[in-house]
Amino acid sequence: MSQMVDLVIFGGTGDLSTRKLLPALYQLHRHGLADRLRRIIATGRGELDTDSFRSEAHANLERFLPRDQWDGAIWEHFRDTLHYVKVEADDDNDYRQLAQLLDAGDAPVRLFYLATLPSLYGAICAQLKNTGAANTHSRVVLEKPLGHDLASCRAINEEVAAVFAEEATFRIDHYLGKETVQNLLAVRFGNPLLHPVWKNTFVDNVQITVAEEIGVEGRGGYYAKTGALRDMVQNHLLQVLSIVAMEPPASLDAADIRDEKMKVLRCLEPITASNVKERTVRGRYDAGAVGGQAVKGFLEEAEYRDAEGTETFVAIKALINNWRWAGVPFYLRTGKRLSRRYSEIVIEFKKQPFSLFANDPNELTNKLVIRLQPDETISLHTLNKKPGLTRNLRLQPVELHLTADSNHKGDSYDAYERLLLDAVNGDQTLFMRRDEVETAWRWIDTIIGAWEETGMPVKPYNSGTMGPNAATALTARDDRNWYE
Ligand code: BG6
Repeated sequence: MSQMVDLVIFGGTGDLSTRKLLPALYQLHRHGLADRLRRIIATGRGELDTDSFRSEAHANLERFLPRDQWDGAIWEHFRDTLHYVKVEADDDNDYRQLAQLLDAGDAPVRLFYLATLPSLYGAICAQLKNTGAANTHSRVVLEKPLGHDLASCRAINEEVAAVFAEEATFRIDHYLGKETVQNLLAVRFGNPLLHPVWKNTFVDNVQITVAEEIGVEGRGGYYAKTGALRDMVQNHLLQVLSIVAMEPPASLDAADIRDEKMKVLRCLEPITASNVKERTVRGRYDAGAVGGQAVKGFLEEAEYRDAEGTETFVAIKALINNWRWAGVPFYLRTGKRLSRRYSEIVIEFKKQPFSLFANDPNELTNKLVIRLQPDETISLHTLNKKPGLTRNLRLQPVELHLTADSNHKGDSYDAYERLLLDAVNGDQTLFMRRDEVETAWRWIDTIIGAWEETGMPVKPYNSGTMGPNAATALTARDDRNWYE
């Protein structure tokens, strides 16, 4: 039988909770999916009481939810589940009060969502254990960034593991909660037509782009120490890459899917000082215009003296040394203040061995384009005859849209809504396992080491472009182009 759950959010009044978690929890109520959620207990350092927390939550939800999704009756129901407890990270009494509140309830499962500084995760877990707030039915959700490098990630994982078993630890990567990322599994393993061509004999290259229009948005302090490689590639891009490249799993169970993703990460070829300049690009946005609005450069925005060494854009040529993908470059790029916001996976198939047509042979490729956001679409780019009477047969691209979007009239589900529901239900499929996160860090650490060893420069680019020219050169060197 399903057991009731009390959810405790550490960092409950912080940015993530306000913008993402509380709206997602409200949506679970609106969609009738919250029957197992008994109470939502936000904790923070502020001297708030439950009533004032509820009023703040009300104001924030009105701000962050689309107007047509606000429903007074749902709010009243949701409001009654919200509670607030002040918890200072190092104050035993605060944790005891939290434990008392939990004991007074009747939900057997306790789900602790840690959305604070990751450096506090270990101390919070230890306090939860020492004061009895965490019991044998407890689970923990860990927000990214999980460390700054492999060593710090391991240290956090060790401290958490002293309290929570791996089966009770949910490491979140919100990209795994996106509808199209999951659809990737369906498309790859549900369509016999695609199965035979999903490998190096047919695929020429794969491109994964996560482009953002926003800048560092008041997170300059965090971002200046982090950079795009750690903030985006270590988690989101490598998770997407591993789903694109994995072997068919034995089943759709969490362990089987995570085993296959892990094998991909293990096969990533290390990028070292000997090839880092050809295989990676680092960029930093200068002033420019995005969407018609003038914007400042990163260094002005970040107001952080050492930020010259931080990249807001990164492009990488990754290679997966295994039977399926040997020789197929996976070009990854992500950046802030780019020309538009979109995330996309492009599978470009190999050219015909010989062209019968009047086109440039480079034009004659098929591509599968999987758009993750802002719209969720999948299209197959094929070639058809260009209409006309000419004897010189020319082909033109035609896009076949493979998504049933126009039939999909229902609500869409936000990534956090899906992942919170999975955590409540104890389903780990869309969360990262310890070995995955650590293996990803190992690969990232080697790149950072190579950047340091070679003094790899951070190239400026104008806001509103697709990054520094060196990113174009990265693919051009292989006689290829980014798909725009
Ligand atoms: C976060 C990064 O993990 O993902 C942010 O820390 C980034 O820097 C965000 O802006 C992008 O998420 P999404 O869902 O808007 O693509």
